[in-house]
Amino acid sequence: MPPDLDDILEATLRSPGTAASTSPSGVVEAGASEHAGSGSGFGLDEQGRPRHPGAVDHPLPRCLAVANQKGGVGKTTTTVNLGASLAELGYRVLVIDLDPQGNATTGLGINGRNLDASVYDVILHDVPIEDVIEPTTLRNLFVVPATIDLAGAEIELVPVFSRELRLRRALETVEADFDFLLIDCPPSLGLLTVNALAAAGEVLVPIQCEYYALEGLSQLLRNVNLVKSNLNNKLEVSTIVLTMYDARTKLAEQVAEEVREHFGTRVCRNVVPRTVRLSEAPSFGQPVTTFDSSSRGAIAYRELAKEVSGGAPQRVR
Ligand SMILES: Nc1ncnc2c1ncn2[C@@H]1O[C@H](COP(=O)(O)OP(=O)(O)OP(=O)(O)O)[C@@H](O)[C@H]1O
Ligand SMILES: [Mg+2]
Repeated sequence: MPPDLDDILEATLRSPGTAASTSPSGVVEAGASEHAGSGSGFGLDEQGRPRHPGAVDHPLPRCLAVANQKGGVGKTTTTVNLGASLAELGYRVLVIDLDPQGNATTGLGINGRNLDASVYDVILHDVPIEDVIEPTTLRNLFVVPATIDLAGAEIELVPVFSRELRLRRALETVEADFDFLLIDCPPSLGLLTVNALAAAGEVLVPIQCEYYALEGLSQLLRNVNLVKSNLNNKLEVSTIVLTMYDARTKLAEQVAEEVREHFGTRVCRNVVPRTVRLSEAPSFGQPVTTFDSSSRGAIAYRELAKEVSGGAPQRVR
């Protein structure tokens, strides 16, 4: 753990606008939040366990930037499968693919070659975002696709007016039509990720349970702080998801323990196991929940969706 990580965490996690309070034991106080439509006691789930603080603090619609500049940690897998699982719960979900690799787009069965416009045109050429939203094979699940054009955006954005706020301005026009908006960020901290952080209310950080899991995290948190103080004061790192957890190894357990020590209740109880079905599903253009509905990966992401949403009543039907 880099020595300064804890200090940066302090600044990132203690958001002045946060409604819920956390007791010294790390337990979210029941009733601490005025969650929309939830009534009192939203702080506890049906089993009497504390709800995830992200769900307690943030009313729908929730916009989460799925970010970690480290490559291959499970950002896209989490965006696609958490999105599909939230849609399965009945929430209306919009996945925004902000990575020129376009993995979330193809993973949801959309072929970039058949598209007239993509997120690139929304950000660079003022194409209305509703014109590029594509339905997927799943009810309630929609995607703003990315194509390789987006690779030039980091440079093309440089001279553009309000270059950090292009995505926010676009999402503001459709946000009310969805319960959850999930932004799949590229593995960098450039202008595209800054656009995602400026547009979102929350950051979801997937952390791979491997060596060097926490490496680079202080850089990410520093950037979140910068965006928070200059562009988006409501931004909060609300949710940490442990990915590729291999229960047979001591290392996975140690990483999980260390992450929980530093991030406390923000770390989801449910971890995503390392399973081959999760890595196979994208080549069939499907989330794991439809590719192999009863697989361990599907079950894990369904449980994660329940935890992340906290069972908040859907707004949009
Ligand atoms: N839980 C898992 N079990 C097994 N394989 C996984 C799991 N999660 C992700 N993978 C695989 O690991 C690779 C990296 O995952 P993914 O693409 O989701 O990461 P990423 O953070 O989006 O990567 P990038 O930084 O390149 O965008 C992919 O091949 C994916 O299929
Ligand atoms: Mg990715």
